[in-house]
Amino acid sequence: MGSITFSHVFKQYKGESRPAVNDFHLSIEEGEFLVLVGPSGCGKSTTLRMLAGLEEISAGELYIDDKFMNYVSPKDRDIAMVFQNYALYPNLSVYDNIALGLKLRKTPKYDIELRVNRVAKVLEISHLLDRKPSQLSGGQKQRVALGRAIAREPQVFLMDEPLSNLDAKLRAQTRAELIKIQSDLKRTTVYVTHDQVEAMTMGTRIVVMKDGVIQQVAPPKQLYDEPANLFVAGFIGSPQMNFIEGNVTLEEGRYYFSNKRMKLLLPRSYDSSFEKLTRAVRNVILGVRPENVLLKPFEPDDDDENGFAMSVVQMTEVTGADSYVYVTVGDSKVIARTDPESIYLKDDKPAIGFNMGKLHFFDVSTGVSLAAGGDGG
Ligand SMILES: Nc1ncnc2c1ncn2[C@@H]1O[C@H](COP(=O)(O)OP(=O)(O)O)[C@@H](O)[C@H]1O
Ligand SMILES: [Mg+2]
Repeated sequence: MGSITFSHVFKQYKGESRPAVNDFHLSIEEGEFLVLVGPSGCGKSTTLRMLAGLEEISAGELYIDDKFMNYVSPKDRDIAMVFQNYALYPNLSVYDNIALGLKLRKTPKYDIELRVNRVAKVLEISHLLDRKPSQLSGGQKQRVALGRAIAREPQVFLMDEPLSNLDAKLRAQTRAELIKIQSDLKRTTVYVTHDQVEAMTMGTRIVVMKDGVIQQVAPPKQLYDEPANLFVAGFIGSPQMNFIEGNVTLEEGRYYFSNKRMKLLLPRSYDSSFEKLTRAVRNVILGVRPENVLLKPFEPDDDDENGFAMSVVQMTEVTGADSYVYVTVGDSKVIARTDPESIYLKDDKPAIGFNMGKLHFFDVSTGVSLAAGGDGG
């Protein structure tokens, strides 16, 4: 129970020139924790609201457990939704807020009591049941909102940025609890966030959206290691992946990446990807994550031959466990993650190199990934 299928779903708001959701086509498995992530305005909430029945579907079909849902009213969908602003009833006690959905469904009184007490215990809000929402902190309100959704024991949970009003510490804590609750209850959950860290830590599968269009659907690690295009590569990961423009050339049977400042001999593991390319798409953007950028003191024999170029340090950011060194290489800005023991000061000129097995190459004109992590990881 609780599998969901979107078949080529579109949403076009009246008077808008382009669809808010454009050909959303995806199946969600029973029990899955699916996260929709993307920048503000990319169509996440609209997608969720169509699933809840709060927004009409302009074209395409929606199925829950193979039942056609397009015209089924929200109350008949066996779905509970948790919103960013909690949406609690101010005049009702915590107990009654949690119990309300059950009362409306004519659940027997003893059963309501049992369920409310059970979720209150799980969420550690048993001592708050007599209070009114105005007597609660933000974190407590969000627990009550979650409790109300959980008590109903629906087939599907929908959550739209439920943690975004909490401070960082409480957000991390509630995030961990949500993961645990979801894995205990094993109910299909569709969770919306604009925060890529939240997406990466919570989702078993992540859908990255931009301008109403799905960019990639993958488990977190795959999204990080094999982003399908420049947008996903830049959106997932912090600090973000470095991008350097250049060309892929073939010389005496070996592939090189080069621009005015660097010429890198690429490992043979990339060969099969580059063999498929026509000359026209050999204008590329090289992508490399900060943890795969190497800095070291420049030595006389550091040149093209061994894959190092000279860089200039702009600034260093110390976070505690790591340092991030911002350098320029010609026109390109690059961030390197280094251990905090190696100290780089502004205008230092270290040699910069890359972990050659961990490079990404994207088509300059389309942004599509041409090759990633030649060593397979
Ligand atoms: N009721 C509405 N009428 C017209 N346009 C809307 C409405 N709701 C959302 N939009 C537009 O649809 C797009 C997607 O919005 P939304 O789904 O809320 O994005 P997200 O949740 O990813 O921030 C945005 O361009 C937004 O301005
Ligand atoms: Mg939204």
